[in-house]
Amino acid sequence: MSNFDPTVPSTTESGEPRQSDSYSMSVGPKGPLLLHDVNLVQKLARFDRERVPERSPHAKGSGAFGEFVVTGDVSAYTKADLFQPGKTTRVLHRFSTVAGELGSPDTWRDVRGFAVRFYSEQGNFDIVGNNTPIFFLRDPMKFPDFIHSQKRLPDSGLRDANMQWDFWTHSPESAHQVAYLMGDRGLPRTWRHMNGYSSHTYMWVNAAGERFWVKYHFLTDQGVENMTAQEAVELAGKDADFHRRDLFNSIKEGNFPSWTLYVQVMPYEDAKTYRFNPFDLTKVWPLADFPRIEVGKLTLNENPVNHFAQIEQAAFSPSNTVPGTGVSPDKMLLARIFSYPDAQRHRIGTNYNQLPVNAPVCPVNSYDKEGHMQYHHSGAAPVYAPNSYGRAYQAEEMVVENGWESDGAMVRAAYALHSEDDDFGQAHTLVRKVYNDEQRARLIQTVLGSLEGVQEPVLSRVFAYWRNIDEEVGNTLEELYRAAH
Ligand code: HEM
Repeated sequence: MSNFDPTVPSTTESGEPRQSDSYSMSVGPKGPLLLHDVNLVQKLARFDRERVPERSPHAKGSGAFGEFVVTGDVSAYTKADLFQPGKTTRVLHRFSTVAGELGSPDTWRDVRGFAVRFYSEQGNFDIVGNNTPIFFLRDPMKFPDFIHSQKRLPDSGLRDANMQWDFWTHSPESAHQVAYLMGDRGLPRTWRHMNGYSSHTYMWVNAAGERFWVKYHFLTDQGVENMTAQEAVELAGKDADFHRRDLFNSIKEGNFPSWTLYVQVMPYEDAKTYRFNPFDLTKVWPLADFPRIEVGKLTLNENPVNHFAQIEQAAFSPSNTVPGTGVSPDKMLLARIFSYPDAQRHRIGTNYNQLPVNAPVCPVNSYDKEGHMQYHHSGAAPVYAPNSYGRAYQAEEMVVENGWESDGAMVRAAYALHSEDDDFGQAHTLVRKVYNDEQRARLIQTVLGSLEGVQEPVLSRVFAYWRNIDEEVGNTLEELYRAAH
């Protein structure tokens, strides 16, 4: 993808050898400069346009290429070519933090992005997940507000704990994810030492047309390892790129990280009667109900040769599905289907899908045309459908094979139709049954540390929020806080 030859002298963009890479053209050695110095004008004009907007959330990150090899047999659940036994598919994987800007430290406590693209022969298939199996919200209407509360105050431009806790305590559905984030896994040692999850429920369709609901789990073969708050703070000052460096150097040294992909599979009909809404992104499906089924192994073995072209311009999206896969009625997921391509048209440019890192390995054929940076075209073939001149088009009515049935009045409503649709139940299980005493003690210290600058009325709501998750944790938190202030 690079036509760079270090032995050839530099040229202008139109190919003429540049007269100089060092000196601008002036009238006499002391100037003034000349507008027709193409060498200088072009260099400055390109420099002035070097930056593209950073990703709105998940700005800081990096990634690598690799391969996904199917080791299990899930053909009973999906006909997707990339998941058939023995298949190998090239992948691109990007890791990120959520709230920090492009140059922010990798080790700030945050959720980590875990985005995987499979360059399948049926088109790009992207799982754009996180290192947590759940999320802070269940309705996309709140997502921009959530990100605003994680970013910076409008006046001072500072990050602000009061704003974060104000949002969280007004949104009790965040409890499960906040309890996860404030736990040990909020500070992964490296990207290689963390798991990845689709978090959302997706659909699979098998060759017989049967539908299933699935959740994807990538479990790290390196083992889960976290760092202490102290280490994270020190590294944030010492090496803001700690995780980026770790991944690049590991791969460079031939120490290829890998993850085993599993799925949880729920029969299509079970979704209606399951004890909680299986499309609620704030909930996990307990493994006792839906055990993990092995799918394959993902190995990262190839570093990018150009960070900008292959990582910064990568455009992952949950809308990139392939036959045998699909989305689900999760409202968050459905909104993401719109939001990612929309953000990428703005961030990268209208025809971002034609860039090598985003182009699928299979042919692309559409009636879309022109716009910024358009490169591919259909020649003299008709540019409209239907047409009488032999260019294929689809005109059949159909029941969409990866769709679902839906009916009802138009409403704006919270979920709460299944018997266990609550905000705090699974958060309590995490804090009381999954975390041991030491982990719970560290959680309390982390929350205490995060309360610096939090004021009333938010402060009292924080203690109430934690008492709702776990009475003892909430009480201890308040006692320790009051004793220290
Ligand atoms: C990045 C929107 C929820 C994971 C992004 C971007 C947008 C966005 C606009 C930047 C895309 C780009 O410029 O390339 C949203 C909206 C959400 C949502 C509107 C909810 C309604 C989630 C959830 C997850 C997630 C629930 C994980 C399960 C990611 C990741 C990236 C990202 C990993 C970075 C992808 C990359 O590495 O390029 N999100 N997001 N997001 N989001 Fe979301």
